[in-house]
Amino acid sequence: MSSLRGRLLLVVCVGTYAGALVAACSSPNSSAPPARTAAAAHASTLWGDMKPIVSVKELMRDFIDPASDYVFDSVGTVIQRGKVVETMPRTDADWDKVRMGAVMLAEGVYLLKVPRPFAPAGDENNSTGPEPEELSPAQITAKLEKDPVLWNAKIEALRNVGLEVLEIVKKKEANELWDAADNLDQACEGCHLEYWYPGEKAFLNKLDRKLVELYGDRQGKPLGMTVK
Ligand code: HEC
Repeated sequence: MSSLRGRLLLVVCVGTYAGALVAACSSPNSSAPPARTAAAAHASTLWGDMKPIVSVKELMRDFIDPASDYVFDSVGTVIQRGKVVETMPRTDADWDKVRMGAVMLAEGVYLLKVPRPFAPAGDENNSTGPEPEELSPAQITAKLEKDPVLWNAKIEALRNVGLEVLEIVKKKEANELWDAADNLDQACEGCHLEYWYPGEKAFLNKLDRKLVELYGDRQGKPLGMTVK
């Protein structure tokens, strides 16, 4: 998958714009000094303050989740009067919607870098009782503060899927949206299983080990769902 390599390179280059690897990402003409443009200077400073309004939970409900529906709902199969009908973007207006979802996700997910409460005041999530399903906002905060790099990695993972979808929109390759929707689902769940309901992660990994125990490792591919 050549586009994946391209994406990775892009991420490395953007991430290290002002850093040590700048030479590796600049033009092959090594005698030219690295271009320190105005854009590069801006990359590390914002034009103004970022102030949150809602909690992470509300941002999910009212922004990230609805944005993702533009991508998730763009492809699918439904049975209509006994016939299998495939949904896919066909018109320019259909593709506009996919692009809107991709832009909202790729740009919007950076709002998760602005410190904000995880849930509205007084909302403790389903974090009480003998086997709580969800972490409390305080537990999520503690987890993030211990390892902000991981939180940022989850954000970048979702952003990368947004970029992937933007590429698909450019090429209008509707078939590739199936994989992208899969990747999107994994990017959402990859963060939720880490920060929101990690109990399920433990369960899925246990299920994986059990399946491998029962049916063996199929050429290194586990049968269940491995959570990274
Ligand atoms: C970087 C981490 C991260 C990513 C990526 C992420 N989420 Fe979330 N999401 C969270 C956290 C944390 C919560 C739980 C917040 C809480 O309840 O304290 C949450 C909660 C939610 C909720 C529950 C909202 C409610 O009202 O209860 C929905 C829905 C949701 N996310 C959808 C999504 C979708 C869809 C995606 C992918 C397109 C996604 N999230 C990607 C971290 C993430």
